[in-house]
Amino acid sequence: MTNHTPSPLSAPPSGALRGVFSPPGDKSVSHRAVMFAAMASGRSDLTGLLEGEDVLATLKAVQAMGAETERTGDGAWRVTGAPPWRGPAQDIDLGNSGTSARLLAGAIAGMGVQARLTGDDSLRARPMERVAAPLRLMGAALETTDGRLPMTIRGARLRGVDYETPVASAQIKSAVLLAGLGAEGVTRVTEPAPSRDHTERMLPAFGGEVRVSGLTAEVTGGQRLSPANYAAPADPSSAAFALAAALITPGSRVTARGVLLNPRRAGLFEAWKRMGADLTIEVTKNDGEPVGDLIAVCSDLAPIHVREEEIPAMIDEIPILAVTAAFAEGESRFEGLAELRVKESDRLTAVSDLLRAAGVETETGEDWLTVAGRGTGGVTGGGAAAARGDHRIAMSTLILGLASRKGMAIDDASMIATSYPAFQADLAALGAALETP
Ligand code: S3P
Repeated sequence: MTNHTPSPLSAPPSGALRGVFSPPGDKSVSHRAVMFAAMASGRSDLTGLLEGEDVLATLKAVQAMGAETERTGDGAWRVTGAPPWRGPAQDIDLGNSGTSARLLAGAIAGMGVQARLTGDDSLRARPMERVAAPLRLMGAALETTDGRLPMTIRGARLRGVDYETPVASAQIKSAVLLAGLGAEGVTRVTEPAPSRDHTERMLPAFGGEVRVSGLTAEVTGGQRLSPANYAAPADPSSAAFALAAALITPGSRVTARGVLLNPRRAGLFEAWKRMGADLTIEVTKNDGEPVGDLIAVCSDLAPIHVREEEIPAMIDEIPILAVTAAFAEGESRFEGLAELRVKESDRLTAVSDLLRAAGVETETGEDWLTVAGRGTGGVTGGGAAAARGDHRIAMSTLILGLASRKGMAIDDASMIATSYPAFQADLAALGAALETP
């Protein structure tokens, strides 16, 4: 799975997008459902899973550690957990997936086994000390390669810690909590700002007990998880692309069905509303996680000022929000973007470069970005951007292309399959055709 043959893709200017679509299963939820099922003794039936490469990497990893996995239908997997895991002799290749690497590091440490994790060029460039450091404090031995993958984890009898994370990161928080399930005593994590809370919400479904108070989550060690049947909702981070295309392409009206509406993931939708977007949100279910439909209608957008404290709830959506800001009338400003530099690519540089390639002026600092919006129909396009091994940069560039006057191209679309294998098909069904040059 590591490193693909590049496959260029272009987005010519599109007419209106119209229709209803079901985005793929939520990536964060799918990873956790697979991991928790593999940590539980017995058989779990999981549905609605994202079958993108990132989640397939997690499925393969838990198989290597002794869980059985069987595909029982579209997005449906039966996972039979077999704790304690066994330490595989071979390296575990997690492809592009940071969530797999960081959460599994915690789970492996807590299981007391040994494994060596690696990944593709993008993943091997990302920081791993942020999870290695707290796991070492708990008594596990971790060796990174200059702070990155490959990383060897040697689990041991862990002890609970009271850990304050320096950054608001659900991946760090979750790694420590998963290790804490196997530790002696209480493990407590406090974060500087609220990050996504799927681990805390989902563990109880698998029989785990988590206590949450403000910015602190804690687990008592020695817990055994039990199997569960779990349905993953659709991914708001993937829904964002066609909804954005609808907001910025005249005449469009698009509905995304069954989308996860967890408030810690919904920052983009709130931001769009502040920009004056005609976006309707209808909650249809609230069972563990709020879920509903989103209807986006093309709108005249006002620029936006996004502050640091708002970023965690839209951490993966900044590229597509910046693209929509290019179609607003006036200058938008985004602050507190330091974490964007350590995602699948340096997304601050990548998003600024893709906007400039489309003729949109931007300015960047260490952790901020401004976008000089040109209004509906005002973005020229006609350029090409490097996807940099980053699915969200690739998809954001293509959405901008559809709404621009001359279209946009990317050098490589292959990594879109990590989170959204049906991206091109879903857009085509809504009336927007991407083209292989
Ligand atoms: C994720 C958390 C976020 C996000 C990533 C998925 C998760 O990372 O960017 O795509 O599933 O926990 P951080 O929490 O490290 O910012």
